[in-house]
Amino acid sequence: MKASRSKNIVLAVALVAGLISSSGFAQDPTDEAAAKIDEKFGGNIKKLFATRCSWCHQGYGMKQADGPKLAGTSKSLAQVMAQIMNGKTPMPGFKTQLKFEEVQALAEYIKALPVD
Ligand code: HEC
Repeated sequence: MKASRSKNIVLAVALVAGLISSSGFAQDPTDEAAAKIDEKFGGNIKKLFATRCSWCHQGYGMKQADGPKLAGTSKSLAQVMAQIMNGKTPMPGFKTQLKFEEVQALAEYIKALPVD
């Protein structure tokens, strides 16, 4: 009796673990957008984002911190690029630190982030 109960628990745990891994919970939701941008621009967008943006925009743009969540922004691609270049207090502008192509890649990445 006892033995079969613990066997059932083992089975239940295995089932739940299987469901979680097959439903994609374990995968980072930003990976698809990042792969698209990296293929187009040939860089590493998540690395660039992590170095320049993550201290204010968390979860690679998916979570609010000091800066807002970027996924689902109401701004157009051009407006997002303008904000990255010029900043808006308290966000610094990046036009002297980033290449135009990097600004474009970041903006396209932000617009490609999944919205729920
Ligand atoms: C020092 C903190 C800080 C850093 C670093 C920072 N941001 Fe921001 N960001 C903010 C804040 C705060 C806002 C909100 C400003 C406002 O519009 O009032 C913002 C707003 C934005 C917006 C506009 C969002 C919207 O929907 O209005 C975009 C796009 C953005 N940031 C992108 C970036 C990117 C890309 C980087 C890295 C290159 C970056 N930010 C780095 C703080 C930061």
